[in-house]
Amino acid sequence: MKTLSFPSLFVLTSFFLGAIQLHVSNAQLNATFYSNTCPNVSAIVQNVIQQALQSDPRIGASLIRLHFHDCFVDGCDASILLDNNGTLRSEKDAAPNTNSARGFDVVDKIKTAVENSCPGIVSCADILALAAESSVSLSGGPSWNVLLGRRDSKTANQAGANTSIPAPFESLSNITAKFTAVGLNINDLVALSGAHTFGRAQCRLFSSRLYNFSGSGNPDPSLNTTYLATLRQICPQNGSTTALANLDFTTPNTFDNNYFSNLQTNQGLLQSDQELFSTPGAATISIVNTFSSNQNAFFQSFAQSMINMGNISPLTGTNGEIRSDCKKVN
Ligand code: HEM
Ligand SMILES: *[C@@H]1O[C@H](CO)[C@@H](O)[C@H](O)[C@H]1NC(C)=O
Ligand SMILES: *[C@@H]1O[C@H](CO)[C@@H](O)[C@H](O)[C@H]1NC(C)=O
Ligand SMILES: *[C@@H]1O[C@H](CO)[C@@H](O)[C@H](O)[C@H]1NC(C)=O
Ligand SMILES: *[C@@H]1O[C@H](CO)[C@@H](O)[C@H](O)[C@H]1NC(C)=O
Ligand SMILES: *[C@@H]1O[C@H](CO)[C@@H](O)[C@H](O)[C@H]1NC(C)=O
Ligand SMILES: *[C@@H]1O[C@H](CO)[C@@H](O)[C@H](O)[C@H]1NC(C)=O
Ligand SMILES: *[C@@H]1O[C@H](CO)[C@@H](O)[C@H](O)[C@H]1NC(C)=O
Ligand SMILES: *[C@@H]1O[C@H](CO)[C@@H](O)[C@H](O)[C@H]1NC(C)=O
Repeated sequence: MKTLSFPSLFVLTSFFLGAIQLHVSNAQLNATFYSNTCPNVSAIVQNVIQQALQSDPRIGASLIRLHFHDCFVDGCDASILLDNNGTLRSEKDAAPNTNSARGFDVVDKIKTAVENSCPGIVSCADILALAAESSVSLSGGPSWNVLLGRRDSKTANQAGANTSIPAPFESLSNITAKFTAVGLNINDLVALSGAHTFGRAQCRLFSSRLYNFSGSGNPDPSLNTTYLATLRQICPQNGSTTALANLDFTTPNTFDNNYFSNLQTNQGLLQSDQELFSTPGAATISIVNTFSSNQNAFFQSFAQSMINMGNISPLTGTNGEIRSDCKKVN
């Protein structure tokens, strides 16, 4: 096998570094993007969410989930916000979102408030990223400097939403692969799964664990038997498939690290939650233990992983557009 000489290796390396640099500088978000054009945008977003939380303690959870489901499908480009029309098949109607994703009305309220102060300036994709941060910090979680400068897509990808967003019935290795596909690693997976420290899930998304796990005729063996009894009351056999359980039964509306201590006592709600701790030999176990014993470590990692997720393939520069109504292309 012919080895490359030192000079050609150098030239090749410089070329790739240059290409990477060019790519990054092309798509670089920053925290000061609106500092001249809409300096108060964070406060406006936060203010609307604070109001909404008064009547709906779940709304913060619903909003951060929209950002996640947006970013995993062709990047953080507000594609999830587009409504169905004659030709466009919306992501809202994709399997992970239909009768599940919520908070679109509050996103519209935020957009209206932002447009009143700074018309035509702030993208819907950036509004989702800002709303995610406000939702976490207003619920007791960390704050971070949200990177901005995303633009909005002119299309949606329903097929992509069906296949790219992880499902609660998937194995840890399948879910890890979906994170890897968007450039996120297992630290990001465990930290971001910690968002299940607030919000709710419908019985249909975990009840097979209560009665007939993987066709075994028995409950999921990795489910705490005391917790199992509680969940069976919330989700009786043949009961409503849309009844809700708290993702974190201890502090349902607070952003803290109890999600991770729940996993240590086999009290994760979704199969995908418990797998992080109960998959034999998994590298995620020690990360769960770290976050369970050290809330600061969780908060720091969570903030960094939210930035990592928010950096997935943004539209920048002259790509895409600034939608004036988040529900439709201009
Ligand atoms: C790791 C793979 C993940 C899976 C399989 C998953 C799955 C789910 C499911 C099935 C629900 C319940 C939906 C419903 O009942 O309608 C849910 C809710 C939620 N998810 Fe995830 N999720 C994952 C990761 C994430 C990430 C990365 C975030 C955010 C950073 C997140 C944030 C949330 C929140 C806050 C809720 C509650 C929403 C509400 O109450 O409206 N999830 N998730
Ligand atoms: C932020 O990004 C925008 C667009 O790329 C650029 O014009 C601006 O100079 C950047 N600001 C900083 C502080 O890097
Ligand atoms: C910024 O927005 C908040 C929330 O809407 C408002 O209370 C505050 O007065 C605004 N500040 C400025 C300088 O416009
Ligand atoms: C639906 O939305 C697409 C994408 O924005 C647009 O090209 C098309 O004209 C719209 N169709 C209708 C019937 O409004
Ligand atoms: C996405 O999944 C939904 C629900 O399963 C299905 O109705 C729809 O046809 C799928 N869309 C595409 C484009 O595959
Ligand atoms: C994992 O992904 C493979 C390939 O897509 C699929 O065949 C399998 O059913 C998935 N397993 C689970 C448990 O989701
Ligand atoms: C559990 O599910 C399997 C596969 O779907 C089914 O064959 C079996 O009858 C179910 N068992 C019970 C007890 O419902
Ligand atoms: C649930 O429905 C099935 C089929 O209709 C029935 O066989 C079963 O006895 C019911 N279980 C309970 C607990 O009501
Ligand atoms: C089940 O949960 C209880 C707390 O409700 C805890 O004391 C116990 O250790 C847990 N059992 C297992 C096997 O994790």
